[in-house]
Amino acid sequence: MQIGIDKIGLYAPHLYVDMNKLAVRRNVDPEKFTIGIGQEKMAVAPITQDAVTMAVNAALEIVDDKDKEAIDFVILATESGIDHSKAGAIYVHHLLGLHEHARSVELKQACYGATAAIQMAKGHIALHPDSKVLVIGSDIARYGLATAGEATQGAGAVAMLIGADPDILALEENSAFKTDEVMDFWRPIHSDKALVDGKLSNEQYIAFFTNVWEQYKAQSGLGLADFAAITFHLPYTKMGKKALKAVMDEGTDDDAERLMTNYQISAEYNRMVGNIYTGSLYLNVLSLLENKEDLQPGTRIGLYSYGSGAVGEFFAGILQPNYRKQLPVKQHSQSLTSRTKISVDDYEAIFEETLPTDGSEVTLDVSADPAEVCLAGVKDDMRQYVRK
Ligand code: CAA
Repeated sequence: MQIGIDKIGLYAPHLYVDMNKLAVRRNVDPEKFTIGIGQEKMAVAPITQDAVTMAVNAALEIVDDKDKEAIDFVILATESGIDHSKAGAIYVHHLLGLHEHARSVELKQACYGATAAIQMAKGHIALHPDSKVLVIGSDIARYGLATAGEATQGAGAVAMLIGADPDILALEENSAFKTDEVMDFWRPIHSDKALVDGKLSNEQYIAFFTNVWEQYKAQSGLGLADFAAITFHLPYTKMGKKALKAVMDEGTDDDAERLMTNYQISAEYNRMVGNIYTGSLYLNVLSLLENKEDLQPGTRIGLYSYGSGAVGEFFAGILQPNYRKQLPVKQHSQSLTSRTKISVDDYEAIFEETLPTDGSEVTLDVSADPAEVCLAGVKDDMRQYVRK
């Protein structure tokens, strides 16, 4: 039995800031942001969106009534959790109207969380082939105004249905992974912004990649020539390119051209959205599958997942016949191009607007947010969600 990704849904907030404008405000050469880092637009989450609402908005795109019957496990991977105890997945389960005989948990290991969730889902489907697991990566990347990390912020969610005989990508069994204690990026419990050692994080991202790639090759007997494309977790679009270049000498000129061309295509959505942490790798898989029209079914796609702290994993999947029919390509390109550009002033104001931390109540105006599911306020320390 094959197990893998059956459907993929995407949600990105309706607001974005132009990286050229942000660079000018920060007295930085715009080409540092657009070429050096490789970002064009940065998604900005309004206060009416959080990890839960974005997760549900992504899932609503793919979950139909038949799926609702089959889903018996909901895993929300996030590092933007809204509660130290209760899993955001329970709100997701409720807002989607799923039946009660389902497990719902939240999973955390920085940007690696959704990959761990997929591996867990694979095990579940192997035992229960008729069921489906809903895996969602949902995050708001926040480093702070005028910080080095600011240009690598973003927000959004990717929802995936994992099941038997999948329609999009059948995941293979070979998988190489590594854990090591590294303080390259973390978010202390008291802070709503990440702390980062930027240089160390870049080094570790590449070191973990070369390590798990070597392990994977030894395990599988495969090499660069066996991949139509390799997709990466992308904190910013230049990062995966650096990792790919680190192993490029192993292949022929044809391998280098194919993998680099497909890498650029896989990074197209990221250039327009920014880092969405747990969902980022899967946003890039989606970008590749939707924007590269002639990828042949039966070919192999590599996936490199990296979560600071740190865990890395390399695994792969085989594209399924008719995979493109499962992808709402037009809908995604339209929703990304029809977003509203906001000024740097407005972005800064939205960034500074936070929910009360002293137990007081707040009611939020959801009328300006076109998303189906929004955060409408906080009452008695409980988030109030609405599905319009
Ligand atoms: N024109 C073109 N390019 C320019 C330029 C210009 N005028 N000015 C600078 N550049 C280039 C630089 O040469 C550099 O390119 P290389 O990396 O290829 O050398 C690039 O722009 C960035 O410049 P700096 O290294 O000077 O940038 P910085 O130090 O200000 O910040 C950063 C970069 C460290 C990535 C920072 O944005 C950051 O800390 N980001 C958050 C952490 C992060 O994303 N880490 C990635 C790995 S960790 C991970 O993957 C997990 C996760 O999601 C967080």
